[in-house]
Amino acid sequence: MKRTPLIIDTDAGIDDALAILLAMASPEVDIVAITISSGNCSAAQGIRNVRGILQLIGSGNIPVVKGVEVPLVQPPVFAPETHGETGLGYAKLPEVSIHSNQKHSVDLIIEQAFRYQGEVMIVTLGPLTNLALAIRREPAIIDKVKKVIIMGGAIQHGGNTTPQAEFNIYCDPHAAHIVFHSGMPIILVPLDVTYQIILTQNHVQRLLQVDSPVTRFVSDSTRYYMEYHKKYQQIDGCVINDPLALALTFKPDLVNTRKLFVDVDLSSGVSMGKTFADFYNFLKQKANMSVALNVKSRVFIDLFLDRIVKLATRNLQ
Ligand code: RIB
Ligand code: CA
Repeated sequence: MKRTPLIIDTDAGIDDALAILLAMASPEVDIVAITISSGNCSAAQGIRNVRGILQLIGSGNIPVVKGVEVPLVQPPVFAPETHGETGLGYAKLPEVSIHSNQKHSVDLIIEQAFRYQGEVMIVTLGPLTNLALAIRREPAIIDKVKKVIIMGGAIQHGGNTTPQAEFNIYCDPHAAHIVFHSGMPIILVPLDVTYQIILTQNHVQRLLQVDSPVTRFVSDSTRYYMEYHKKYQQIDGCVINDPLALALTFKPDLVNTRKLFVDVDLSSGVSMGKTFADFYNFLKQKANMSVALNVKSRVFIDLFLDRIVKLATRNLQ
């Protein structure tokens, strides 16, 4: 099977971690870089999180590099109430060594886009700061990327950070504006579809039938995330946004998409970071992305659980 070279740009929270585990469990993709943005936690914490996850599953040879610590214009926003102080809830990971002489995320994105041109996919699971700066630094990457799958935005769904805005876009709306209008081949995975993907305690119990560091990590990290969803959104379970975006790198038919012109509100008022689609073409603009508007949620959850069980079982050998 020809494996798709994949760059994961992530703000290293709980659902990001689940997405990375899913990628490691999926033979269709070959992770050629994990680049860290700040968001759920600081980029400095994020690199420790991702290195720890890779060490947990014995995949320490994937390049993991830190990116920009702060948004382009906005002050930094973090989400300890959602993902915990470390970004990984109650999960504990082995201490990892962080080498100082690391490439910067922006440079590694550019380097891998040129190395795997035409084949490489980028999936962004956090604010778009790194990708926006990579586009500004080397616009030629726009034509070298096969697909950019962005977890972010809320189109006909309310926000999860303000009444209007989704977290990844709200953190850095200016970066989102650069990426949205770059001409890259974008698939947007907004809250409209991710809020149909709820991981429940029953699902976690199914995973724990395999007693492994991987399943214990999933249980400990999502327990914190479920407490947040229950307390703030009265949801029994947790919305696992990022794994759905990741799954579209190898199973695009999980969602139905529609080509639309999408923009982001940069005003500093109550709707800052709001993403909107021009369904009736009022603005007479060409569509700039494909937007996922419905999802086969049961098919995705079964795929996710099945692959995590396989990864956990493999991890025991
Ligand atoms: O709004 C959900 C997104 O924001 C997810 O990627 C979550 O990890 C946070 O980054
Ligand atoms: Ca994320």
